[in-house]
Amino acid sequence: MTDQATKSSESRYTQQTVLAKTTWLEDKLFSITVTRPPGFAFLPGQFARLGLCVGSPESAAPQAAPIPNEWRAYSMVSKPDADELEFFSVVVPDGKFSPALSRLQLGDALWIDKSVFGFLTLERFVDGEDLWLVATGTGLSAYLSMLRDPATWHRFKHIVLLHGVRTSSELAYRQELLALANLVDPQRAQLIYLPVTSQEALSRELSPSIKSQWLNPARLTTLLNSGELEQRAGVALEPTRSRIMLCGNPAMVTEMRGLLAERGFAPGRRGVAGNLAVENYW
Ligand SMILES: Cc1cc2nc3c(=O)[nH]c(=O)nc-3n(C[C@H](O)[C@H](O)[C@H](O)COP(=O)(O)OP(=O)(O)OC[C@H]3O[C@@H](n4cnc5c(N)ncnc54)[C@H](O)[C@@H]3O)c2cc1C
Ligand SMILES: NC(=O)c1ccc[n+]([C@@H]2O[C@H](COP(=O)([O-])OP(=O)(O)OC[C@H]3O[C@@H](n4cnc5c(N)ncnc54)[C@H](OP(=O)(O)O)[C@@H]3O)[C@@H](O)[C@H]2O)c1
Repeated sequence: MTDQATKSSESRYTQQTVLAKTTWLEDKLFSITVTRPPGFAFLPGQFARLGLCVGSPESAAPQAAPIPNEWRAYSMVSKPDADELEFFSVVVPDGKFSPALSRLQLGDALWIDKSVFGFLTLERFVDGEDLWLVATGTGLSAYLSMLRDPATWHRFKHIVLLHGVRTSSELAYRQELLALANLVDPQRAQLIYLPVTSQEALSRELSPSIKSQWLNPARLTTLLNSGELEQRAGVALEPTRSRIMLCGNPAMVTEMRGLLAERGFAPGRRGVAGNLAVENYW
């Protein structure tokens, strides 16, 4: 790379420092908190491009400054005005990026593209009474930022958060979410947090108020199809009043989108406000 090329690429990103790490599930799920680049503004639901130096290119001079060579998209978990940036990640066993990200230690460097990206934001909806946030796995990341932002709570009567994972041990951030669900007036029940496990029964202590027949393993798509999703939420899913976001596994997003289309949900188009917004993680 020429000096000029190095200079222009360097100006697109900044080097930040790892401040904290949380392991949710050993070798599978973790969160990482890093310093926030000056002027890095984002809306809840948007994502950053994170960079790492993966491997050690033989051509690199011993004293040369490291240059990130792998970049991946990661949704911001942080409240939009937080001093630091937090990200929630899976470890893909044979992945090039996520295992390296999981090995970072406090004080290590992480590069962040100066631009923010993405349209999975509440600005996609012009109105609506209830907000449905549907995630599989780490798709939860984008919604955590929304839930940490008071503006989201002011805007919607109910917020239904569905988090589909394989096992109860993958329900990251559950204590924060349970606390948020209980924080407000219980009569109002503004946040309805519904964890769903697909490979084993849901642990009762993680969802104390759930009826015992709803602890059985299920996929979110099956529950939507059978009507059980609305029964569990205690709120009707209707195109006029509900606004719904889907995030995570692309197969879930595609199937859910098909089921929702039959019920009158569609993304916004030029001049036509939508009631559905989606983001695929791969
Ligand atoms: C807009 C956007 C936002 C994203 N936000 C996040 C985020 O907040 N947290 C996060 O962990 N990942 C997120 N991702 C995915 C992330 O960019 C990487 O793909 C992921 O970290 C794996 O990188 P890798 O190099 O290890 O594996 P890759 O080579 O990138 O992926 C290999 C395979 O792993 C699986 N995979 C990739 N990402 C995931 C995932 N998140 N959950 C389950 N399986 C996956 C897929 O089968 C994929 O084909 C996001 C992706 C996009 C497009
Ligand atoms: N092969 C394995 O057994 C295995 C085990 C652990 C981890 N991993 C790896 O771990 C990584 C992340 O896995 P993850 O569990 O976080 O993410 P994931 O594979 O996307 O699964 C998250 C949740 O989404 C559900 N889901 C998948 N496809 C769906 C669809 N079409 N409709 C509705 N729901 C759907 C899953 O249900 P289901 O459980 O019913 O699929 C699961 O409850 C991947 O890279 C994966 O390869 C693999």
